[in-house]
Amino acid sequence: MTSPQASQYTWAGRFSEPVSDLVKRYTASVDFDRRMWRQDIRASLAHARMLAKQGIISAQDLADIERGMAQVWQEIETGRFEWSLDLEDVHFNIEKRLTALVGDAGKRLHTGRSRNDQVATDIRLYLRDAIDAILTLLRDFQAAIVTLAEREAATPMPGFTHLQVAQPVTFGHHMLAYFEMFERDRERFADCRKRVNRLPLGAAALAGTTYPIDREFVAAELGFAGVCENSLDAVSDRDFAIEFCAACALFMTHISRLSEELVLWMSPRVGFIQIADRFCTGSSIMPQKKNPDVPELARGKTGRVNGHLIALLTLMKAQPLAYNKDNQEDKEPLFDAVDTVTDTLRIFIDMMGGITVKAEAMRAALTQGFATATDLADYLVKKGLPFRDAHEAVGHAVKAAEQKGVDLPQLSLAELQAFCPLVEADVFAVLSVEGSLAARRHIGGTAPETVRAAIARARQRLG
Ligand code: ARG
Repeated sequence: MTSPQASQYTWAGRFSEPVSDLVKRYTASVDFDRRMWRQDIRASLAHARMLAKQGIISAQDLADIERGMAQVWQEIETGRFEWSLDLEDVHFNIEKRLTALVGDAGKRLHTGRSRNDQVATDIRLYLRDAIDAILTLLRDFQAAIVTLAEREAATPMPGFTHLQVAQPVTFGHHMLAYFEMFERDRERFADCRKRVNRLPLGAAALAGTTYPIDREFVAAELGFAGVCENSLDAVSDRDFAIEFCAACALFMTHISRLSEELVLWMSPRVGFIQIADRFCTGSSIMPQKKNPDVPELARGKTGRVNGHLIALLTLMKAQPLAYNKDNQEDKEPLFDAVDTVTDTLRIFIDMMGGITVKAEAMRAALTQGFATATDLADYLVKKGLPFRDAHEAVGHAVKAAEQKGVDLPQLSLAELQAFCPLVEADVFAVLSVEGSLAARRHIGGTAPETVRAAIARARQRLG
């Protein structure tokens, strides 16, 4: 005899007592997996159409299932659907409601499938949709970066190594460095999508099914590029989700580098840029404060996305084949990675347009670190001095300039000649910021004309 409480469970036949409320809460996933309801219904409809085509269920059953699912869809969309923790997950919730609406046809839907291949299918559909949205947003974000790069293609700023002034670059060139990072991120997401886009349905619990199913048909119905080849692998691996989180972690790492620079540049001590007020907040106590909260938070959220990657790797590590309930834990990290990356992109697209560049501050910073010292060394090399000797001579010149409290171009010709007799009057063109920039004309260099050409190519790559 089953207890009245236990009978509401699908597996009531085999059980003699219900689970406690705590166990119910511990094992249920409906609170977080219900966000896959659209994918669950889409996959169920494709499965039902296949069952009918193969004569496994009747045409009438299919019609009932389609009618019932249309209503379930409506109920969920309009917020009238009653989600129940007793029904554990999104799959049971929808199936039970369908059965309540259409009777036996609803009970036949689960023929030839298991929740194991069902959930694997739902996640892949969900993730594919998420990747498509991310790819579009990433493209828009890169376009915003290119727009800013174009506006400032010839604006000089100090390029840094070790956070010390190194050589002049243009702000546009600096922005294009981020374009490249995000271009690789876009490639990674697009590549990951290929491995997401395979159909697990048909694997059933783990070993396949005895019904004459047509997996290729279901794959085509759902827009998958093909089927998962092995039933055990289909239901048990989540490497595609791990890979997605790895792409997210790298993307956020790039975002954190950009964010760090925005924060630094916005500090009044540096003053290279201003970010539009709508991305900043004030202080509850210090009336003068304007804090770059958005980039700071993005920097912080990088940690949580990196954490999701480690969580999924650890979840999968050493799991025996095939499905284990551990895998239910894949969803929250995965969904949060999707949400964090999606929201970050939406905000950053807007924020890039709200950046004002303070060209005077950047130029002032360029006069403080002997930014054209390498240009002077290269100049001496072109006059015949070996590079190591040139490096040493310029080192002495820098020391002298530092003691005098001036930059290299402020030294007189005679002073410069004291360090190396090869110096002539044409040296001053080389020591200027504009001269330094213009001299770096090869592909990947920072000359304004080169940056403009790179911008044109970047636009083409965005399509
Ligand atoms: N809610 C489960 C999950 O997210 C669905 C699959 C359950 N399968 C099982 N054999 N208990 O993984």
